[in-house]
Amino acid sequence: MTFDGSRYVSNAVKALPPSGIRKFFDLAAQMENVISLGVGEPDFITPWHIIESSFYSAERGHTSYTSNLGLLELRQAISDYLEAKHGVGYDPTNEVLVTTGVSEALDVAIRTLVSPGDEVIVIEPCYVSYKACVLLAGGTPVIVDTHVDNGFRVTAEDIASRLSDRTKAIVLSYPNNPTGAVMDCATLQRIAELAKERDLIVISDEIYSELTYEGTHTCIAALPGMRERTVLLNGFSKAYAMTGWRIGYACGNKHIIGGMMKIHQYTMLCAPIIAQKAAIEALRYGEEAKQRMVAEYDQRRRFIVERLNAIGLTCFEPTGAFYAFPSIAASGMTSEEFCNELLREQSVAVVPGNAFGACGEGFVRCSYAASLQEISEAVTRMERFLADHAR
Ligand SMILES: Cc1ncc(COP(=O)(O)O)c(C=O)c1O
Repeated sequence: MTFDGSRYVSNAVKALPPSGIRKFFDLAAQMENVISLGVGEPDFITPWHIIESSFYSAERGHTSYTSNLGLLELRQAISDYLEAKHGVGYDPTNEVLVTTGVSEALDVAIRTLVSPGDEVIVIEPCYVSYKACVLLAGGTPVIVDTHVDNGFRVTAEDIASRLSDRTKAIVLSYPNNPTGAVMDCATLQRIAELAKERDLIVISDEIYSELTYEGTHTCIAALPGMRERTVLLNGFSKAYAMTGWRIGYACGNKHIIGGMMKIHQYTMLCAPIIAQKAAIEALRYGEEAKQRMVAEYDQRRRFIVERLNAIGLTCFEPTGAFYAFPSIAASGMTSEEFCNELLREQSVAVVPGNAFGACGEGFVRCSYAASLQEISEAVTRMERFLADHAR
């Protein structure tokens, strides 16, 4: 008899839908000459001084475990950065946890806060992990849709209408993946008031905060009364082109961070020391390289939005992250049909909007973390695709 491993997989894991993004990458990876606007990852290599300082520290023998919380020097640098940038500081001894990417910080935050039956507000379209992490923690994700007519910004009223006695937390994520929407300060203030009124925790994934092209990013933890009830997540993957180093962090109330630390110490032990050393260098000396990358993204952003609109894929103006989220209404196709056919016929990979939640249907995510030349060629191919399918 053949061994059927699937019988041993837990029901919770079996019930998890596979990521709609992954499915697409796997398809694209099997094809040749594909231009990919699919990946949510910088096309830059980590700035050389960051790589060098990390390798140099390894050469000097820094190859050990670190404190479970992460190197104190890094926690201090994170606190200093947040204080200088957003006016909200944290005690590095017990309010900052260094993690293996925001991915781990998110999972650990949700597992720390959520008991079976608790509800968590998830605002869609959004990064694919939020719902999955809530489900794995035994919680219930309660979805709040956002729409293009409101710039994909959630309002306090939208959230209030979905609260119940079991709501424990709200996951916020601005600048947003996949829409590129940012949040204005006034709306954030109203959401903060609601969180205080209804005694909710805000898990704020601000991984794209440095990629804000117009105005300034408001960190919700810096609003009055929000420092204690926000678990602030951020990291190095996007702003410093450091996805492969796997470094992120969580800041918040010492009891919540202490709870997160417990899970982290049993499951991860600590983030890799060479990556922590790299993160220290990034915070101390990475500003110039970061600004150069941000300026490039901004140039590409303007270019892709103008071109998409010109070919009839109406695109709301994203002012954060590195994604454009055009409507594909002109094609008459569903998001999945559009992406499958575009890949098959024109070898261009973009991601169906519904991979980020049902309300993303009718849109596709185009990452502009690609060269101008690639973006230009991809949009030209999309134009050809639309012409071939003119109704
Ligand atoms: C909104 C958002 N949060 C978190 C992550 C994961 O980041 P990290 O590389 O720090 O795990 C991503 C990656 O695409 C993301 O888009």
